[in-house]
Amino acid sequence: MNKKILSIIRKKNKTKIVSLSAYSKNVAEIIDNYCDIVLVGDSLGSVLYNYKSTREVSLNTMIEHSKSVRLGVKKSLMVVDMPHNTYRNSKEALKNAKQIISKTKCDAVKLEGGKKIYEIIKTLVKNNIPVMGHLGLLPQSAKNFKFKGKQNYEREKILKEAKLLETAGVFSMVLECIESSLAKNITKTIKIPTIGIGASNNCDGQILVFDDLIGLNPINVRFVKKYTNIRKDISKAVLNYARDVKSMKFPLKKHSY
Ligand code: KIV
Repeated sequence: MNKKILSIIRKKNKTKIVSLSAYSKNVAEIIDNYCDIVLVGDSLGSVLYNYKSTREVSLNTMIEHSKSVRLGVKKSLMVVDMPHNTYRNSKEALKNAKQIISKTKCDAVKLEGGKKIYEIIKTLVKNNIPVMGHLGLLPQSAKNFKFKGKQNYEREKILKEAKLLETAGVFSMVLECIESSLAKNITKTIKIPTIGIGASNNCDGQILVFDDLIGLNPINVRFVKKYTNIRKDISKAVLNYARDVKSMKFPLKKHSY
C-alpha cells in the first residue's frame, strides 16, 4: 500500500487528521505545510463557478484544477473528487479514475455514496486505485442540505454503509453533516479513519473548504468556522492600489524600468 495512505490510516486513535479542499497551486503550497490530506473537491463548482450544484462539474474541470494543485502539494496526500456521472458503473469509473490519476498524479480519488457504488469501489481498489469514501450528505445527489442521522432508519443505513465501504476497501471516508453521536458510533465501529465536515469532533479528522475557512467564499453555514476575513483584507489592498494608481503613487521609479 502507498506509504502516504498507510500513514493516514495509522493516525487513527493517535492523532487527528487535518484536511482541506483546495483548487489551485498557490493555496495548495501554503496549506500543504499543515495538512495531512489536500482534496481537490468538486465543491469548486459552487465555490468558484457559481453552479447550482456540484452535478454540473465536468471531469475536465476537475483535472485542470488538480494539475494546478499538484504543483503545490509535496507532502500531503492528494485526493481528487470524481465528479457526478463519471462513475455510473465499474467500467466508466475505472476508465475515468485512471485518467484522473495519470493526468493529475494524485494519490487517490473520492466517490460519494454507499451501497449503490459498492461494486464500483471494489473494482477500483482491485485495480490498485486508492479510494476515499463519502457518506452522509452527498452533494452530488442530495435533494436537500439537511444534516443526516435524525431518524433511526437513516442512522442504521449510514452505519451499515460505512461498514460496507470499509469492506469494499476504502482507506478513509468523509462524513458530511452527520449527527454527532452517529459520527462517534461510525468512527468507533470502523478501523479506517473518518474525516468529518459538520460531523462533530468525534471523527478521526476534519475537512473544510479553504475558501470558507478564510472567509473568501461568503457563505454562512453552521459547520464552517471562519479563521480570518480575507475579503476585508483584499478590499483594503485593492482600494489602496486604486487610490495609488489615480494619485500616481504607483508605480514609482523603483517599480519602473
Ligand atoms: O467537494 C468538497 O470539497 C468535499 C469536501 C467538503 C468534503 O467533498
